[in-house]
Amino acid sequence: MTDTKGEELSALLHENRRFPPPPEFAAAAIAQPGIYEHAAEGRTAFWEEQARRLTWAEPWHTALEWEMPYAKWFVGGKLNVAYNCVDRHVESGLGDRVAYHWEGEPGDTRTITYRDLQEMVCKAANALTELGVEAGTKVAIYMPMIPETVAAMLACARLGAPHTVVFGGFSAEALRDRILDCDARLVITSDGGYRRGSPSALKPAVDDAVASCPNVTKVLVVRRTGQDVAWSEGRDVWWHEVVDRQSEHHEAQMFDAEHPLYIMYTSGTTAKPKGILHTSGGYLTHTSATHRLVFDLNPDKDIFWTAADIGWVTGHSYIVYGPLANATTSVMYEGTPDTPTRDRWWQIVERYKVNILYTAPTTIRTFMKWGEDLPAAHDLSSLRLLGSVGEPINPEAWIWYRTHIGGDRCPIVDTWWQTETGGIMISPLPGITTTKPGAAMKPLPGVTADVVSNDGTSVGNGEGGLLVIKDPWPGMLRGIWGDDQRFKDTYWSRFPGIYFAGDGAKRDDDGDLWLLGRVDDVMNVSGHRISTTEVEHALVGHPSVAEAAVVGASDATTGQAIVAFVTVKSGADNPEGSDQLVIDLREHVAREIGPIAKPRQILLTPELPKTRSGKIMRRLLRDVAEQRELGDVTTLLDATVVNAIRDRMVPGAEEREQG
Ligand code: PRX
Repeated sequence: MTDTKGEELSALLHENRRFPPPPEFAAAAIAQPGIYEHAAEGRTAFWEEQARRLTWAEPWHTALEWEMPYAKWFVGGKLNVAYNCVDRHVESGLGDRVAYHWEGEPGDTRTITYRDLQEMVCKAANALTELGVEAGTKVAIYMPMIPETVAAMLACARLGAPHTVVFGGFSAEALRDRILDCDARLVITSDGGYRRGSPSALKPAVDDAVASCPNVTKVLVVRRTGQDVAWSEGRDVWWHEVVDRQSEHHEAQMFDAEHPLYIMYTSGTTAKPKGILHTSGGYLTHTSATHRLVFDLNPDKDIFWTAADIGWVTGHSYIVYGPLANATTSVMYEGTPDTPTRDRWWQIVERYKVNILYTAPTTIRTFMKWGEDLPAAHDLSSLRLLGSVGEPINPEAWIWYRTHIGGDRCPIVDTWWQTETGGIMISPLPGITTTKPGAAMKPLPGVTADVVSNDGTSVGNGEGGLLVIKDPWPGMLRGIWGDDQRFKDTYWSRFPGIYFAGDGAKRDDDGDLWLLGRVDDVMNVSGHRISTTEVEHALVGHPSVAEAAVVGASDATTGQAIVAFVTVKSGADNPEGSDQLVIDLREHVAREIGPIAKPRQILLTPELPKTRSGKIMRRLLRDVAEQRELGDVTTLLDATVVNAIRDRMVPGAEEREQG
């Protein structure tokens, strides 16, 4: 762990503010004291109770089969995920309940009831069948935040066709790699979506990507913006032409609890993203149970808003699967928080009387910068609970969130989890836990987390170490698509037999957990995981670049920011120091990976600091990037290199781009 982490840590541990749940909240909360003890008496039985809240066509005969690292939950059980998310609610008389209050960025709105959603999903499932999709066929989804995106995911789930949703901010290259890796046969996209006040195209990236994906035979295109699109006859089909004419009836087949539901790609420590595989029964149990308990969700009353993109796991678990399985009314918003004005979110909270808001610390810090007058000008009194996810939340942001958004009355749940865990793992329970600003507090009932030192022994109170999960849980990943060895190496080899999350954590004097961020070469930029190696790989792919080293430097708004140190090939077109080359390199990374991976700052340097054995000393580069006193340089081959780099680092000169 780096020195800054140590400093942050001691600041955190002097945090002595405490926020007990308001008594009325506690009295009415779904999760009541005793739930931890109850779950501890029989962990598997606890998850079975949660699973019984779903509708099963056939019950399981074995709750858990565990042959490390392979877990099977609810073995023998059969269910249909889409049926559980939609049809069963309509059948029980909730057809008129709103599933989504959807708002487009330009201000257009749609109200989608559970009955509407059922019709959309059934028609889409019939259309996909006509287009050749069967159980097991992989489908890639590259869409804006519109209701059809949810319908597309559920239609796949209904057919047992695993989907892979690729965030619309990823490049054509990134999309192509994911399509090829999981061998998707059909792509669902749209002409574009609205972002920052104008249409932002998606179809051209699909056209580019699919040009080198020979197995993709169909591209299904939703018309959202009406912008011009290139059209490949025979391959491309309009959603409104194929889906709208289908029957609104579709008989859902039941699938094994372990049938694959989706593959979500996430960055690891190599240049190649990992396809995290989630299956059906355990995942839906985990997401629906945690959604209900952590957000104290009363589906008859609450308006719930996860303000995230469906292209990330947060959107999968807490916009789509968890909330729908619980018959929740959610808000879904297409665009950016500052369009047309910086109070857009607060208008939305006021308009729909949102009760529960779930977002990322980076957004909260952005709102802090924009000023408290914006939320203060709106009636946010409907809010009763706030959530945070995606990165460590600093106490200052936590307190601001509580004061200026939560009116000092709403409990905050800081939820730790990962793409791999499928759902929330460590979090306060809002009616039980006395919270501390910046702490995720305790593993949820049914989850066994620990903080261990390098040799795998549990650390005591007041000590830091590495976060591990000791027992299997229902939402856990079932593997890395097509790379079993990497699955074992990444998660199960550091401490044999237990899951290593890749995060540092601290147990405070009371035994409560504070999450400290990644301990590997994975950066967390605005709550998005990006690997240093992936960005380096993109940079060295540029003809002028000889070598590149990328580090994540602390950033007051985005958590971490990408800083790249680049050496240029001798005789390369662009002379060293050229501003143009830096601009080109940033564009190059955006093209290769996506705009989210553009370095905040690129420093051209004649050399990179290396050890005598030739390893790049990233720790020093991180010190340089964060403009700290340099750490130990005794193993450095040539100490003058670092000083030379540091001298070039002009504070504040970096080019910034809003995420
Ligand atoms: O480092 C942790 C951080 O985000 C990582 C997981 O990223 P991803 O798979 O993209 O999923 C993000 C949304 C679940 C973790 O390894 N992280 C997530 N939540 C928290 C967090 N760090 C601290 N506190 C959190 N609440």
